[in-house]
Amino acid sequence: MNRINAVVPSGATPGNAVPLQIRAGGITTADTVTIAIDGATEPAITRPGADASAIWDFVFRQNFRQNFSLVPGKDQLYEGIAPHSQALTVYLNPVARQAIESKAGSMPAGSMIIKEAHSAAGMLNASLIMYKITGFDPANNDWFYSTRQANGSMGASGSVAGCFGCHARAKESDYMFLVSPLAAPEPNAAAVRDFIEKQNYRLTWRLWPGTSAFQPSGAPHGTLVSIWVNELAYNAIRNRPGQMPAGAIVLKENYNGERVLQATSIMYKSQGSNPSGGDWYWLQQTAAGQVAAEGRVQGCISCHQQNSANDHLWAGSIERFPDTKAAAVWDYVARQDYKSWKLFPGTTAQMRGNAPHGAFITTYVNEPALNAIEKKRGAMPPGSILVKENYGTDRNLAAVTLMYKSEGFDPDRNDWYWMQRMADGSVRAEGKVSGCINCHTAQASNDYLFLGRLQ
Ligand code: HEC
Ligand code: HEC
Ligand code: HEC
Repeated sequence: MNRINAVVPSGATPGNAVPLQIRAGGITTADTVTIAIDGATEPAITRPGADASAIWDFVFRQNFRQNFSLVPGKDQLYEGIAPHSQALTVYLNPVARQAIESKAGSMPAGSMIIKEAHSAAGMLNASLIMYKITGFDPANNDWFYSTRQANGSMGASGSVAGCFGCHARAKESDYMFLVSPLAAPEPNAAAVRDFIEKQNYRLTWRLWPGTSAFQPSGAPHGTLVSIWVNELAYNAIRNRPGQMPAGAIVLKENYNGERVLQATSIMYKSQGSNPSGGDWYWLQQTAAGQVAAEGRVQGCISCHQQNSANDHLWAGSIERFPDTKAAAVWDYVARQDYKSWKLFPGTTAQMRGNAPHGAFITTYVNEPALNAIEKKRGAMPPGSILVKENYGTDRNLAAVTLMYKSEGFDPDRNDWYWMQRMADGSVRAEGKVSGCINCHTAQASNDYLFLGRLQ
C-alpha cells in the first residue's frame, strides 16, 4: 500500500470540488479526484497536548517573543510583585489576546500566557506558562502550568497545586491576575459590588503604589485608610496617561483608629456614564454593606473636583510627566508640591552638603525615584525626579538643583535632564548641563547619583 502526504499551498483557492493532481517522477495523475479546500487564511496549527516539553517546544517554534503580544498596559521588564520576581515580561498568544479584547468572559482552549521573570539586571531567570487545554483539569479551569528555567531544565508542570492554589484567588477572572476576560460592570451599586466581591479584591488587587495599608487619613474618609486599585488603575498610576482608563476601579476602605472598617468609598471609571465628571461613578457603602450614596454624588464630586487636573484623584499623581523645559518641569514639581515628597532615604533636612551644592542641603525624591532607591533597582525609572535645595552657611535658600529622568532625553547619559534654579526663580542652567554631568559622571555606575546606592 502506498501512502501520499499532500500539502495544500497556503495560497490555494478555496472551493468544495478542487481537482487534485499529483506529480511525481515526471508523471502527473489525471484530475478525476477532487478535494475541498476551506477559506481559512491561516493554516491550522496543531497545538501541543499536556506535555511540558512539547508545550515549550511549541512556543519557541512560534517565536513567541516576536509573535505574541505584551499584556496591555505592561512594558517589557515591568515591576512585578511577589512571588514572581521583579522584572517581568508577559506575553499573550493570539487566542488569549482575542479573548481579553473581546471580553469573552473566560479564556478559550489554546490560550497561552507566558511570563518571563528576570533578575533586577534583566537576565532571564525562568519562564512560566499557563496554557488552557480542554478537559485537562476541569476543577481548576483546565489550566496547565509549567516552569522552565533559563538553562532549559523543566520545573513543576501540569496541574501544579503550588501554582493554582494561589491563582485560584483570581478564579473569577479565570485564574489570571494581570488581565481579565470579564466585561466591565454597569454603573450601578449592585453590579459594581458584585464585580468587586467576585474579584476578591484584597487578594488580587494592589495597594495604590506608594501608599500603605491603614495609612493615616482624615475627614471625610476615616482615621485610617487602605486604598486598593485594580490592575487597570494600577497600570495608569505607573504609566501616567493623565486619565484613568475605562474599567479602572479605586476602592478605599475607611477605618477608625482601631482598624475597624467604617465604610468603603469607590470610584469606578465607567465609559459614557458621566462625561462632564470624568466618567466617574461614585459609590459609598457602610461597613454592613448598605449603599449610602451612589452615582454622580455631589458630596464626593464637590471635593474631588479640586483635583480635576489629576482626573479627580487625591492619593497620587497620574499626570503626564513634564517636557524637558525648565518652565514645564518647575511648574510640575510646584504643582506636585515637592516639599510633600519623601527625603532621599538616609538623608535629613538641611544636612551638611558638599561643594558645589551649598553648605546645607535638603533632597526630595518623588515616588518613582523613592521606589527605585528602596528596592535597589540599579537605576531609576523614567519620571524619577530629585529636587535638592541648596542652602548657604546662613541657612538661606541659594538655589535648587534638580535631576529629572525623561525617556529618550539623553540616552548616552541615562536620560537625565539637569536644572539649576536660583532662589529668585531665575534658571541658571538646564538640559544636558556639562558642568553637572562632568562631576556626576563619577557615579555613572550608580545612575549618576551620589547620595545613596541603587544596588
Ligand atoms: C502566591 C501566589 C502565586 C503563586 C504561588 C504563583 N503565582 Fe503566578 N501570579 C501571581 C500574581 C500576583 C501574578 C501577577 C504578577 C505581577 O504582575 O506581578 C501572577 C501572574 C502569573 C502569570 C501571568 C498571568 C496572570 O495570571 O496574570 C503566569 C503565566 C503565572 N503567574 C504563572 C505561574 C506559575 C506557572 C506558577 C507556579 C509555578 C505560579 N504562577 C505561581 C501569583 C502567584
Ligand atoms: C472633603 C473632601 C472629600 C470628600 C467630600 C470626599 N473625598 Fe474621597 N478623598 C479625599 C482625599 C483627601 C483623599 C486622599 C486619600 C485619603 O487621605 O483618604 C480621597 C480619596 C478617595 C479615594 C481614593 C482615590 C483618590 O482619589 O485618592 C476614593 C475612591 C474616594 N476618595 C472616594 C470618595 C467618595 C465615594 C466620596 C463621596 C461619598 C468621597 N470620596 C468624598 C477627599 C474627599
Ligand atoms: C563637583 C561635583 C558636582 C557638580 C559640578 C554637581 N554636583 Fe550634584 N552632587 C554632587 C555631590 C557630591 C552630591 C551629593 C550631595 C552633597 O554631598 O552635596 C550631589 C547631589 C546632587 C543631587 C541629589 C542626588 C544625588 O546625586 O545624590 C542632585 C539632584 C544634584 N546633585 C544635581 C546637580 C545639578 C543639577 C548640577 C549642575 C547644575 C550638579 N548637581 C552639579 C556633586 C556635584
